[in-house]
Amino acid sequence: MRSWSDGSFRSVAFSGAVQYDGVNIQGEALAKAKTLFFCQNCGHQSPKWLGRCPECGEWSSFIEESVRPSPEKNRWGLSPTLLTEGWLGGEVTGPLPIGQVSTSAQARMTTGSPEVDRVLGGGVVPGSVILIGGDPGIGKSTLLLQLLQQLAQRFGKILYVSGEESPAQIRMRGDRLGASSESLFVVSETAFNELMRHVEKVKPLALAVDSIQTVFTDQISSAPGSVSQIREVAAQLMFFAKKSGVAVFLVGHVTKEGTIAGPRVLEHIVDTVLYFEGDKGHPYRILRAVKNRFGSTNEIGVFEMKGNGLIEVENPSGLFLAERPKDAAGSVVVAAQEGTRPILVELQALVSPSHIGMARRTALGVDSNRVSLLLAVLDKRIGLNLSGMDVFVNVVSGIEVDEPAIDLGIVAAVASSLRDRPIDSKTVVFGEVGLAGEIRGIQQPEMRLKEAVKLGFRRCLLPRRNLEYLEEIREIEVIGVRHVGEALELL
Ligand code: TYD
Ligand code: MG
Repeated sequence: MRSWSDGSFRSVAFSGAVQYDGVNIQGEALAKAKTLFFCQNCGHQSPKWLGRCPECGEWSSFIEESVRPSPEKNRWGLSPTLLTEGWLGGEVTGPLPIGQVSTSAQARMTTGSPEVDRVLGGGVVPGSVILIGGDPGIGKSTLLLQLLQQLAQRFGKILYVSGEESPAQIRMRGDRLGASSESLFVVSETAFNELMRHVEKVKPLALAVDSIQTVFTDQISSAPGSVSQIREVAAQLMFFAKKSGVAVFLVGHVTKEGTIAGPRVLEHIVDTVLYFEGDKGHPYRILRAVKNRFGSTNEIGVFEMKGNGLIEVENPSGLFLAERPKDAAGSVVVAAQEGTRPILVELQALVSPSHIGMARRTALGVDSNRVSLLLAVLDKRIGLNLSGMDVFVNVVSGIEVDEPAIDLGIVAAVASSLRDRPIDSKTVVFGEVGLAGEIRGIQQPEMRLKEAVKLGFRRCLLPRRNLEYLEEIREIEVIGVRHVGEALELL
């Protein structure tokens, strides 16, 4: 991001001021072209340049873009029959009683990859727009090409439009991935009008645009990748998808703040937002739904990046626990849940005397407020003296866990590290911890227990309340606990 000092914002502000007076450098009055300033982070618009975005709080994020009213409705000049009939039965009708609306065109296309299908909520819905966001180089194009190959094999024509790679480069990647279906069409294109011409020619079942930041429409004079360009192109593609019934995949790069570059606006427009995340130092990647109009948003899919593309990981718990140290203090396994799937993760804590004035509390992969709260509970209810101690909590393997069941794990790991007493490596824990130190029941204990049994755990500490409704499971010793103190004694 530009800073106040590097001067680049000045030129923006300066040229903006000049143009905003309606006069360009030659001193000619601008024809009706109107310019607005857009926050490149969230898309907030303002008639004036602002130092700080009132919407998202970002500094120096405003860039001037010209906006022209669109001359006509059918903006990309497609033939009218295409728009009114569609080629997939996404026909246009007037209002209908809800019971009479046909759903036949809504049959989902399953990709044949259980991980992707689960994240999408059971397959690709025709006429939906799916945004895949992620850091550059994380594997978005790879994932997309593999996905499109499967769709092409199963259902028919698919068009992959790349604004970043030439067809030859796509082919080379395709050869590595085994993507060579007759029905998979590729083209390199960045002009939106041309892109739509290709679509009209191929008539695909699904269209993929990689990446949305590279495509521009000449209806708007601002640069490709700017907020108004992205918003316009995405809105037109959305309109096209709904009319034609073609599923549209968009790839979006993510800024370092972790939002899909500039256009967080995109998230409102599209039907489904998937994030592809992972640490570049690790081979595994997680596909996570953060918005889904056609399914749950809690689902994740786990993949491993190999030399010949992304391989599905059927047993993520096994992967996450593979390098667990034996009998190390401060390490505990928690049975967490991601969507419909239980996942066992290793949680580590390190408590060490602080050598600077203020003790540090650092949490990776879990909410740091949650950690502070639990440390206070340990201090007040159990009498563990954590003042003057640095506390670090980390969910191993870079995954994030956002559910209360991890509380008991955090408490156990911190206590174990402080007392330098390892927790039995065949024990798994889960449960929410309240402010009084009580342990509260959580959802779906059976599924978590079954996963633990599958991975060879012998003992589980869980909320007493969950025990009351639990079906009997033989393979694992289950111990219900009511209070943190009780749990720590048992561990
Ligand atoms: P890519 O899909 O190009 O990333 P994005 O589209 O998100 O920018 O993936 C690039 C990385 O993936 C690159 O560093 C190499 C790696 N990769 C593999 O390890 N195996 C493969 O088969 C492929 C195609 C890529
Ligand atoms: Mg790419």
